Amino acid sequence: MKKHFGLLGAILICAAGVAAGCGSSSSNSSGGSSSSSSSGGASGSVQSGGTVTPTEAQNAKGNVTWCIGKDTTGAFNQVVSLYNQSHPGVHVKLLELPTSADQQRTQLTQRLQAKSSECDVLGMDVIWTAEFASQGWLKDVTPAIQARQTEFIPSTLNTAKINGKYWAVPFNTNAGLLYYNAKKISQAPTTWQQVLQMAKSDGGFGFQGQAYEGLTVDFLEMLYSAGGSVLSSDGKSATIDSSQAQQVLSFLQQGMKDKAIPQANLTYMEEESRNAFQDGRVSILRNWPYVYSLAKAAKVPFKVEPLPTWQGGKPASVLGGYNLGISTYSKNPGGALSFINFATGPAAQKKFFIKSSLPAVLTQTYKDPAVVKSQPFAPQLLTAVQNGVPRPVSPVYPQISEAIYKNVYSALSNGTAPSTALKNAQSQINSALKTF
Ligand code: GLC
Repeated sequence: MKKHFGLLGAILICAAGVAAGCGSSSSNSSGGSSSSSSSGGASGSVQSGGTVTPTEAQNAKGNVTWCIGKDTTGAFNQVVSLYNQSHPGVHVKLLELPTSADQQRTQLTQRLQAKSSECDVLGMDVIWTAEFASQGWLKDVTPAIQARQTEFIPSTLNTAKINGKYWAVPFNTNAGLLYYNAKKISQAPTTWQQVLQMAKSDGGFGFQGQAYEGLTVDFLEMLYSAGGSVLSSDGKSATIDSSQAQQVLSFLQQGMKDKAIPQANLTYMEEESRNAFQDGRVSILRNWPYVYSLAKAAKVPFKVEPLPTWQGGKPASVLGGYNLGISTYSKNPGGALSFINFATGPAAQKKFFIKSSLPAVLTQTYKDPAVVKSQPFAPQLLTAVQNGVPRPVSPVYPQISEAIYKNVYSALSNGTAPSTALKNAQSQINSALKTF
């Protein structure tokens, strides 16, 4: 775990190779949380809902319900029908939750608090594993992971590991990309400064600006690449009230004032921002890889690049993605594991990636020539995911994130001074940390 030291300004000094600590890229750090051990994963309180073994999966029969966010790309329905065709003894049904990550979590936690057995397989954003495991809502899937450990990209596995055990299997990973309309923007912006300059004159910049998890991610991408952090290296206190965060927030606020970021951006989640880009309401877009296949199908004249850096600085990607866990209350854990093994296996992972640009969690998939041909950004994406910076690993992550997105939103929508917004975020995060 490394602590972040740089200021936005210091990045320029780092570029000149002067300041100490310049060599340590923020892209390997954990966003300031110390709860990850050097072998990966996190430590924390966990209550096991029992262990599911690979043998139980081999002998599986019966019905399984998979609960996960809305199937925007069609990939989820596809994997369900492929599984059902090839596994006559088990029948999987897809239960689609809302598109917003926060609303998905609310719906899952309501069911789990009621000890409902409705969802056997839980589609969990990578940031929920610590919370769900500490609540005792997940079965231990360590033996299933150990049987295939070397197949996975290590950073994806770390999102499912707490106290040396695995509580879920990585399903899809994610790292942000920058899309731009090649008819309106002639050259790829490579710095955040260029993004807003070009957006100001040539059509606007869109990202996920609504007050929800997506805004936390987008803000942290800029903050991490500026050398900022959310928590101290021991994970015990907030560090978000920093000069780096002030500069990022002031930069975004100026973008709103200049109309480089349209007012409507405050209403965008992933899909709204994708539609704004496809309809020409913004010419530069920060979004996830899934947009690639959909924008291509919509015949948008676009190009895609890795995320920009600050001028003279280093890139940082926030690690996104979903893991599949087995509910403690499942009546068919063997069937659930059988389906999870299939959905996270090489054939399914290759299919999703090619058809829906849903980034695979298996290293091998990125080397497949058919994948590279259909997803030209795949090699750069693999690097971004391998070095992806996790969001703070904590059972109170949802409260930490809320403190970030509500205060960032207030600075962007109401003109709250960055210093006030960050002071509030800092004290709300510290209060959340005290609750566990
Ligand atoms: C994507 C990412 C997820 C993130 C969410 C934010 O679904 O995979 O990790 O939390 O977007 O909206």
